[in-house]
Amino acid sequence: MKLCLIVYYSRTGTTAKLADALAQACGADVERLQDLHPRDGALGFMRSAWQGWRKAPGDIAPPQRRPSDYPFIVLGTPVWAGNMSAPMRRYILRQREHFRRVGLFCTAAGGDGRDALTSMAAMCNKLPVASMSLRQGDVLAGRYQQALADFTSELAIVQRDEARTAPSAPLASPV
Ligand SMILES: Cc1cc2nc3c(=O)[nH]c(=O)nc-3n(C[C@H](O)[C@H](O)[C@H](O)COP(=O)(O)O)c2cc1C
Repeated sequence: MKLCLIVYYSRTGTTAKLADALAQACGADVERLQDLHPRDGALGFMRSAWQGWRKAPGDIAPPQRRPSDYPFIVLGTPVWAGNMSAPMRRYILRQREHFRRVGLFCTAAGGDGRDALTSMAAMCNKLPVASMSLRQGDVLAGRYQQALADFTSELAIVQRDEARTAPSAPLASPV
């Protein structure tokens, strides 16, 4: 069991690429949210845009990992119509009482993702220990190393602090 669980949704692989790089960088466990209904094609795009705009949660398969097992949860989503994706909204609604500390990230075609990250933090009712937003083009071109390094060092600082104040807790195990 790791200290950190990365939970993300990705429709077309961009957020997945960033989540995998982050998991490698900070040695986290990973959970990819799975749609219950397909989102491919024009219809899937329109349904996703509609749900993003309406701030409607989407149906997801039950997750495999329990967030209550981890002191840190990192949530990653693509931006849909300026908001978090519908599957991520459902996950937060279902699991948020189990979150202890959260980090947040998003990917977007051109926007800065700020509104999506702000509403994720508000839904979790947490101040994130780290957050980042990246453009899809930068992620696909591999231009995320600095953002990733900043994000993981923020996480590491908080993990170290927490391990110091709770020496007998499982936080002492290696990341
Ligand atoms: C339904 C839908 C709505 C989107 N809305 C926005 C948006 O409002 N702003 C933006 O910058 N990108 C928007 N995008 C682009 C995605 O956020 C971007 O391509 C993201 O990196 C895709 O991540 P994924 O490959 O992990 O699914 C939208 C994409 C979809 C499918």
